[in-house]
Amino acid sequence: VSIVDNFARRNIANQLGAPSLTPITPLLERTKRWQELSGKRIPAYLTDICVDRAGLARLVGEHDAVVHFGEQRSAPYSMKGMKRREYTISNNLTGTTNLLNALLRHPRPLVHLGTAGVYGYSSQSVPEGWVRWNDEWRLHPMKPGSIYHASKCMDQILFDFYTRNDGLAITDLHQGVVWGTQTEQTGLHPDLINRFDYDGDYGTVLNRFLMQAAIGHPLTVHGTGGQTRAFIHIQDTVECVRLALENPAEWGQYRIYNQIAETQRVRDLAQKVASLVAEAQIDYLENPRKEAEENDLEMDNQGLQELGWDPITLDDRLMEEVTEIARMYSHRVVRNRIYCTSEW
Ligand SMILES: NC(=O)c1ccc[n+]([C@@H]2O[C@H](COP(=O)([O-])OP(=O)(O)OC[C@H]3O[C@@H](n4cnc5c(N)ncnc54)[C@H](O)[C@@H]3O)[C@@H](O)[C@H]2O)c1
Repeated sequence: VSIVDNFARRNIANQLGAPSLTPITPLLERTKRWQELSGKRIPAYLTDICVDRAGLARLVGEHDAVVHFGEQRSAPYSMKGMKRREYTISNNLTGTTNLLNALLRHPRPLVHLGTAGVYGYSSQSVPEGWVRWNDEWRLHPMKPGSIYHASKCMDQILFDFYTRNDGLAITDLHQGVVWGTQTEQTGLHPDLINRFDYDGDYGTVLNRFLMQAAIGHPLTVHGTGGQTRAFIHIQDTVECVRLALENPAEWGQYRIYNQIAETQRVRDLAQKVASLVAEAQIDYLENPRKEAEENDLEMDNQGLQELGWDPITLDDRLMEEVTEIARMYSHRVVRNRIYCTSEW
């Protein structure tokens, strides 16, 4: 396994003045610690996949498969003014296109982290990526709710084309909102801990609630909290990527899995967290996003289960583990970064 990263995420965290709640050691220290613990070396390349096409193609050629996480992944950040809109579209689409072009030279199975948000959130039952239309399988209609989500929809159009036209083998994991912070591997040593984003741009909703409860901040529900979203624990994110790599798509196949363990309504999550942490208060704030205030959601998630996935669902013990980590690092919280200030 090798890592390719241009440290965009670390730089954006610095620009926003919103560091991870958990201290993140420099990448080379992380990989060194991992090697001490596991005996496995992970070379890391400081490479911008939008710029160094030759370097990217060389690395693809030296490996058996590619996992593509390398995109700007925050919806609120992508809506924070014209520059961030432009950056998100150009970074995500140029990086994906360069990677696909590298795969034309060195065909390897690709696993991409997509988002369950590509389908849009109306009250609907969502299949895994494809629908029958005029006797043909077509991509499910897309309805992005932000520039970030629009970039993931455009990724889908590229993946569809490169599989049909060029015979690539692509798995797209339409992932739900991630919660939790530790995996089995990151829990081995404090130097390996994952980022814990709690700020209004990058923090994901359940982790934000757990952290807010842990430091005595009111839980920031947007609108009525009637939004139903899909969720997955971070341990399952890595488990699903492993399953997708070990069972690759066929050549010429664009395979989509909904990488979600369950759906939950946001206000129910807030209430669940409030029942775990006695003194937690819930604040219903004006919704900064343009989205349905209330929606139901059902999503098919059979594909990954057929490969052997046994989803982790919301569990008090795991939620308490997140709250404990948040308490442990509460001295690092930048309080004025908690509210979401990006509006659209
Ligand atoms: N976190 C979630 O809740 C969630 C939910 C659904 C989907 N996803 C998707 O999963 C993937 C990983 O998410 P994450 O939460 O780990 O995000 P992350 O920001 O921590 O990871 C993305 C990494 O890509 C790097 N990167 C970005 N642009 C790059 C470029 N041009 N060249 C090289 N490296 C680049 C960043 O520096 C960062 O380290 C993303 O594609 C995201 O869209 C995340």
